[in-house]
Amino acid sequence: MMKKIFITRELAGNAETFLSQKGFKVNVFQKDRAIKKSELLKEAADADALITLLTDKIDRKIIDSLPKCKIIANCAVGYNNIDVEYAKSKKIVVTNTPEILTDATADLTVALILACARRLGEGEKMMREGRFKSWKPQLLLGIELTGKTVGIIGAGRIGFAAAKRLKPFGTKIIYFDRNRREKFENELGAKKVTLNSLLKKADIISIHLPLSKETHHLLDKTNLKLMNRNAVLVNTSRGEIIDEKFLISLLQKKKIFAAGFDVYEGEPNINPDLIKLKNVFLLPHIGSATYEARSGMAMLCAKNVASVLSGKKPVTPV
Ligand code: GLV
Repeated sequence: MMKKIFITRELAGNAETFLSQKGFKVNVFQKDRAIKKSELLKEAADADALITLLTDKIDRKIIDSLPKCKIIANCAVGYNNIDVEYAKSKKIVVTNTPEILTDATADLTVALILACARRLGEGEKMMREGRFKSWKPQLLLGIELTGKTVGIIGAGRIGFAAAKRLKPFGTKIIYFDRNRREKFENELGAKKVTLNSLLKKADIISIHLPLSKETHHLLDKTNLKLMNRNAVLVNTSRGEIIDEKFLISLLQKKKIFAAGFDVYEGEPNINPDLIKLKNVFLLPHIGSATYEARSGMAMLCAKNVASVLSGKKPVTPV
């Protein structure tokens, strides 16, 4: 009997072909939208493996409906959408896609920072709306990176790759993490500081944490207000790490210079107050959206699935 793999949405690259050529039966959800829970319960019921996305909430109910499933391969580095402990208790392996998307996400972080610091969103909108009438000395003045302090919250792989890109702009790096990160200190001359101290001292703040109970609203009313008036805050990790409503109130009162969002609390829904603000730059969760990263992520999922279904160890278990 051919082993069945269910994929919740069409992936980038050649992962499906790779799995078919290995002799697996691959079913892909055909609609161009996130699969609904009721559809997933039905479609995945007899699957030996699942390839899921960050938009699929894999909770106890779903896991209980997968009697044959050996592996859930999440096509993302984050896996807060999956009840990992429960899956493990049911002997289902969970994998993610680390490393392959590090450079893409770090590139996007720098793009967001520059977009905020140099007001690219406002400039682009002005051009499209035909409002550029004359060059003037005070048109869209922004902030330079040279000489500024960058604060990295979450000093893992992506945090490091972002900091490494930002250092040659002439910035000083500080970081906040549970652990001491020698790579930050030795390669970038970065100093480990407390979260409050980072928020007070940094001109550019970038978040690179996984979402968990501990990091949910890690940035909240008590500490967000420590940021300085010229601070730029960007988030390419998970929206729920910031108390978004409170951050919006700071932006409305111009308590910081700007914020760049690739992720949102409750995405894809977006707080309408955010859209009204000029001092934000908004992207639709595209941190890893390069041909290289997305095809690599899909292939890594396929390799994890092929490995586990052949009785071998997963490549990147969580
Ligand atoms: C994207 O957000 C990911 O976790 O891979």
